[in-house]
Amino acid sequence: TYPRKVNIFEVGPRDGLQNEATLLSVEDKVTFIQELILAGLKNIEVGSFVSPKWVPQMANSVAVCQALPKTTDVTFSGLTPNLRGLEEALAAGVDEIAIFGAASERFSQTNINCSVAESLLRFQPVVALAQQHNIPVRGYVSTVLGCPYQGDVPIKDVLNVVKALHDMGCYQISLGDTIGVGTPLATQKLLDKILELVPIENVAVHFHNTYGQALANILIALQMGITTIDTATAGLGGCPYAKGASGNIATEDVVYMCHGMGIDTGIDLAKLVTAGKNISQKLQKQPHSLVSLAL
Ligand code: HMG
Ligand code: MG
Repeated sequence: TYPRKVNIFEVGPRDGLQNEATLLSVEDKVTFIQELILAGLKNIEVGSFVSPKWVPQMANSVAVCQALPKTTDVTFSGLTPNLRGLEEALAAGVDEIAIFGAASERFSQTNINCSVAESLLRFQPVVALAQQHNIPVRGYVSTVLGCPYQGDVPIKDVLNVVKALHDMGCYQISLGDTIGVGTPLATQKLLDKILELVPIENVAVHFHNTYGQALANILIALQMGITTIDTATAGLGGCPYAKGASGNIATEDVVYMCHGMGIDTGIDLAKLVTAGKNISQKLQKQPHSLVSLAL
């Protein structure tokens, strides 16, 4: 059986854009986000509060947040690696933040310049302060199905970080297949173990589509009852600290599959396709979505 309704967590304006060399203006990003809202998206990751030396594209995230429409039924989220990031996120007025750890040591070092254990210590005060401000915290775990540096990642290493973030108070754990190497049975094996630790409603999946496996993996996740799926419109994206990582699975492709299966997403596919085509045009590329190209 499949869920009747899923929650699409749109990461295009953050994960999608962070790897793009063409720096987009505040206005261009806000237009993109407004088009996503018009298409019906309710959870949108709008930027990250990280070092601009590490991720130049995200340098205008505070200004982007401040220019967003004041809607009450859309949750705007941003990544915060440390207290400094959280302070910026609070000033920017986001509704929700996300901390981001990894299951593999080398990826942690390369992405956030500290070990896995150090990152968990660093996240604690971030979560505590966010909670004081009544800001929900999402927790990402990267490299859950493979690492660009170390290759295979033992499931126990994934479970340790998942449990730590869940115990810390993250309301949801998003499992990142950062470089898209996972295949369906590996996904199933991993989720079987994760669901022994964390209630299913607190688990989300975040597949990059580098090897074209994301939809198959999402189908497995849906069969197992997962109802939150991270996607990026136009299949934008990739992690600048994961060489070869291509975009997230396209929101358009997931919405098409869900609607075809009778699963409600609350999204207007035609409007979504327009949003994806417009942002792709700004980046002077074609949408990385087969559904978008077909329509
Ligand atoms: P660091 O160099 O270890 O930190 O970086 P530091 O505290 O020594 O500070 C170094 C400089 O950064 C200083 O500036 C700080 O002020 C500044 P300087 O004195 O050199 O001018 N700084 C900041 N600036 C703005 N905002 C901040 C901030 N913190 C320090 N919050 C740090 C550590 C974490 C900051 C750095 O490594 C970093 O910014 N990393 C971000 C990497 C990133 O954003 N990666 C992509 C997102 S993760 C992802 O895509 C995976 C995901 O999608 C899931 C999946 O697919 O698996 C989530
Ligand atoms: Mg990602």
